[in-house]
Amino acid sequence: MSASYALFGYPVQHSWSPFIHGMFAKETGQDLVYRLHETPPERFRNDVLEFFRDGGSGINVTLPHKRAAADLVNELTPRAQQADAVNTVVQRDEKLIGDNTDGTGLLADLTKNLGLRWKSPRILLLGAGGAARGALGSLLELAPHLLVIANRTPGRALGLAHEFADLGPVTGCAFSQLGHQRFDLIVNATSASLHGEAPLIPIDVVDSMTTCYDMAYGVGDTAFVTWAKRLGAGRAEQGWGMLVEQAAEAFDLWRGIKPDTAPVLKALRQRAAMGARSPS
Ligand code: ATR
Repeated sequence: MSASYALFGYPVQHSWSPFIHGMFAKETGQDLVYRLHETPPERFRNDVLEFFRDGGSGINVTLPHKRAAADLVNELTPRAQQADAVNTVVQRDEKLIGDNTDGTGLLADLTKNLGLRWKSPRILLLGAGGAARGALGSLLELAPHLLVIANRTPGRALGLAHEFADLGPVTGCAFSQLGHQRFDLIVNATSASLHGEAPLIPIDVVDSMTTCYDMAYGVGDTAFVTWAKRLGAGRAEQGWGMLVEQAAEAFDLWRGIKPDTAPVLKALRQRAAMGARSPS
């Protein structure tokens, strides 16, 4: 019988994950099925436990369940603990292990796919919610000269900066406090793109050497990518590569084999360019 994997989220029907993992399985010769489970918050715990009781091998977790998944598993990997959220679960020796591959996926996209290299970069992280927290540890691995977290609600940025202060030169502030300083890398981890908006930050943070990266992705440019291009950013990218890389990391955890992400990323970009909002 094929090994069974699934994505739990609410909503999930437009997810690219079955397409991505289907391509990975084909490429690596793995016999598995990957299904979507649209599960409202009140059913999340029961449905996940039932999935594993019925012989499921592993799951991905997306919004709004990443925090709940961290509470449900028996053990957290260090990076899941740091992110305080879980996007991948695997069962080992009757135990559910929760991992978080988002930050690693972001880093892989920046360094491997986009080929970006900096020495002591100045990094601006926009947002202070779950997505920002998940990215923060990995961004600090770039050994930044400084990492500023800016958020619409500044208290959340300050709180997050305080929590990660032992790991690097992190500070927090309001959008309005950002003026007159440029950055090498600006990562948008707000959910503003989901509403077709770009965060309202001063324009002088961007110059022709700045890379702007939106963790969100979509058909056509996101609002943040449009904003960055208009300001003449050196590069303006959206998160398709992060999506594929975090999936590859999850696949490796489940199957013990790291798939080649390049063909999958190419296929996704082609489909998105043709206007497809989901694989089906
Ligand atoms: P996620 O898990 O996607 O990070 P979240 O924890 O609800 O979701 O956090 C959403 C983030 O996007 C927050 O940083 C939020 O700012 P606030 O803390 O001020 O709410 C930010 N955000 C959402 N919409 C935004 C907008 N239109 N402009 C700027 N920031 C926005």
